[in-house]
Amino acid sequence: MRQVTVVEHLLLSQKERPMASGRFTRLLNELILSAKIIDREVSKAGLLNVLGGTGEINVQGEAVQKLDDFANRVIIRRMERAGVLCAMVSEENADFIEIPHTFPSGDYILIFDPLDGSANIDANVSIGTIFGIYRRTSFDSSSVTVSDILQKGAMQVAAGYIIYGSSTMLVYTAGDGVHGFTLDPSVGEFLLSHPDIKIPPQGKIYSVNEGYAMYWDEPTKKIVEYFKSSANALRRPYSLRYIGSLVSDFHRNLIYGGIFMYPADSRDPHKPVGKLRLLCEASPMAMIVEQAGGMAIDGRRRILDIEPQELHQRVPLFIGSKHDVEFVQQTFAQYYS
Ligand code: AHG
Ligand code: MN
Ligand code: MN
Repeated sequence: MRQVTVVEHLLLSQKERPMASGRFTRLLNELILSAKIIDREVSKAGLLNVLGGTGEINVQGEAVQKLDDFANRVIIRRMERAGVLCAMVSEENADFIEIPHTFPSGDYILIFDPLDGSANIDANVSIGTIFGIYRRTSFDSSSVTVSDILQKGAMQVAAGYIIYGSSTMLVYTAGDGVHGFTLDPSVGEFLLSHPDIKIPPQGKIYSVNEGYAMYWDEPTKKIVEYFKSSANALRRPYSLRYIGSLVSDFHRNLIYGGIFMYPADSRDPHKPVGKLRLLCEASPMAMIVEQAGGMAIDGRRRILDIEPQELHQRVPLFIGSKHDVEFVQQTFAQYYS
């Protein structure tokens, strides 16, 4: 079988579309190289003294792991020199990152979570990198402003993730279906292994941190009870699978069918809207799941329609198989109509 790389696939599948411009290809190539560098470090983490924390707390109030910091620096340093971006937003940086004037720039905006699931790193559990790509909508020569960046997820031109798992995979969409590529370490390339991924419309897995059940609102409790009962669409309880690493939980559910939930909870009055971040986590995953035939909502609204107000805004997330997410939407609609 002929082995197809990411860029070959992009050029073949999008011949007639401007997305296949040299600039987008360049962006993707730089991102792929960053992923390979991160992968190298992650796969040798136990040997390189890169496990553990840096001792810092990030803008999200979370402990920064050494590999979070490494992945963030790799992506920023490579991508700012790529000549195709005007700005970046990282989960680890409070403000958006402007491209220094000494480097050439372009009109793409890259939003990313450099390492997702990083609390799992020391236990050798799969982690990932998540990204969403937008275009600047104002076309003057002035500096980028935050309003150029705060676009709803539906404006993404591409989104994806790299999962550093039992094998390393890139799963991405440029609006033309979802495609998975597995890193072949012997040739150093991501090769097409999962063309046109579709999520089963009905899942049999629910994924949620049920330890926080006492902090949930009534509809959320009812929804989780439904998945655990025999009165659901399957007529028997779903299986619970929760890794605590969004990329890994999402990827498993994408392949097998299922629903991932990070609902709002009342644990912390400062974060009444859940934990996950709209721009760097929920929106990219929402574009992928919709392109695979699934759904992503915050309970009532489509994630991709939410207009962001802040770079690090958090949002409740219900994402996965269509029928399962529809049940969530109907349940919230009954409570809040
Ligand atoms: P990050 O490591 O980028 O901060 O993200 C962690 C997120 C996500 O990966 C996961 O789904 C969630 O945190 C797990 O949170 P809980 O430990 O609260 O379940
Ligand atoms: Mn994350
Ligand atoms: Mn992260």
